[in-house]
Amino acid sequence: MLTDRRILLVIGGGIAAFKSLDLIRRLRERGATVTPVLTRAAEEFVTPLSASALAASKVYRDLFDLTDEAEMGHIELSRAADLVVVCPATANLMGRMAAGLADDLATTLLMATDKPVMIVPAMNVRMWEHPATQRNLATLRGDGIKVVGPDEGPMACGEFGPGRLAEIPDVLAAIEAHFADGPLAGRHVLVTSGPTHEPIDPVRYIANRSSGAQGTAIAAALRDLGGRVSFVTGPADVAPPDGVDVIRVQTAEEMRYAVEAALPADVAIMAAAVADWRVENASAAKMKKDGKGLPVLEFAENPDILATVSKGDRRPALVVGFAAETGDAAGDVVTHATAKRARKGCDWIVANDVSPATGIMGGTENAVTLITEAGVEPWPRLSKTETARRLAQRIAEALA
Ligand code: C5P
Repeated sequence: MLTDRRILLVIGGGIAAFKSLDLIRRLRERGATVTPVLTRAAEEFVTPLSASALAASKVYRDLFDLTDEAEMGHIELSRAADLVVVCPATANLMGRMAAGLADDLATTLLMATDKPVMIVPAMNVRMWEHPATQRNLATLRGDGIKVVGPDEGPMACGEFGPGRLAEIPDVLAAIEAHFADGPLAGRHVLVTSGPTHEPIDPVRYIANRSSGAQGTAIAAALRDLGGRVSFVTGPADVAPPDGVDVIRVQTAEEMRYAVEAALPADVAIMAAAVADWRVENASAAKMKKDGKGLPVLEFAENPDILATVSKGDRRPALVVGFAAETGDAAGDVVTHATAKRARKGCDWIVANDVSPATGIMGGTENAVTLITEAGVEPWPRLSKTETARRLAQRIAEALA
C-alpha cells in the first residue's frame, strides 16, 4: 500500500527506461503520486508525454526551464517527495551522483534533496563490473542510498550477466518495504474472498450468495497493519481494496492454482465461499432446449483449498478458515465449526451463522465466533470492517 506516498522518479537514459513507465503505472495503482524527472538521455528512450500521461503529472526536464522555476523551484521539487527513486540508474548517472555533480535537473535534485534516495541500476555487464562503477556504488551506499538490483540475465546488448534492471514487481516491493510500518511490515499475507462460479456451459454457472465484503475488509485491515497482501478473489460484488495484489479467479480449481502460486505466505485467511462441487459434465457449447428431456448435471467434488494448504508442506505459520453455517439450534454453528477446525487442520476458524434471518450474507454486519486451540470466543455483532480490524489485530499478535 502506497496511498498518498509521493515519489519523485528520476528516469535515466538507458534502454531499460521504458520499464519506468510500467513502474509509474503500478505505483499509481497502489495509491502513490509520481512526479517524473527525465534526463536529456532518457528522452531518447521515453517521451515526456507518455511519462506525463501515465503519471497524470507534469514532467520535469530542464533545470533552466523558467516555467518550472516559477511553478516550483528545484529545491522545493526535491523535497516535495517522500522518496526519490532513480530508475533506471545508468553508469553515467551513478558516476555523477557519486562525484557530487549537479549539472542538470536530475543531479541537482539529487544533491538538493533531504529525502531518502533509492537507485535501480541498469547497464551493460562490463560497465556494471567496471571498477569505476563498483567504486561509485560503494560511495553511494556509504551515502545511505538504497540500491535495488541489478538482476543477472541476458541483456539488450546481447551479453549475459549482472546489469539488468531489477524486475518492476521487485522494485515495487522494495519501495513498499521502504514505507512499510505497522506490526505486519515485511509479512506476506494471503487472503481468499468471494464466491466461485462453476460453469454448467459457457453462459450458465452455479454460484453462491457471498458478496466478498468480509474478505475484502480483512484484506484491507491486514494491509493497514503493513502486510503485503495477495488477494485471491472470485467474482465478488464488492471491489477489491487498493494497495493489495489482486488475483482474479472464477472457479475453485483456478482459486486453488492461484493460492498455490501465491505461497509461501506467513498467514493465510481463507474467507472465500468456495463451491463444494463443480459440474463434471459441463458442456463446451450452450445447452439447448431440444425436446429430448431435461439436462442431467453430474457433480464432482472440488479441491478443498483450506485443507490442502493446512496440510501441505508450504503451510503458512497461521492458517485461518471460515465456517459459514445455517444453525438449526443454538450451539450448532460452534459444534460444526469446531469439528471443521480439526478436520481441515487449520489453526483458527471464524464461524458465523448465515441463516437468512441474520442478514449477514450480503449485509454490512457480522457476528462471528473465533475458534482457536485455546477455546471458543463469541464476538459481538459488529460491522464487517470492525470484525476485520479485530481479526487483523489478533493475527498480528499471533505472528509477533
Ligand atoms: O467445508 P466448508 O466449505 O464449510 O469450509 C469453509 C472453509 O473452507 C472456508 O474457509 C473456505 O474458504 C474453505 N474452503 C476451501 N475449499 C473448498 C471449500 C471450502 O478452501 N473447496
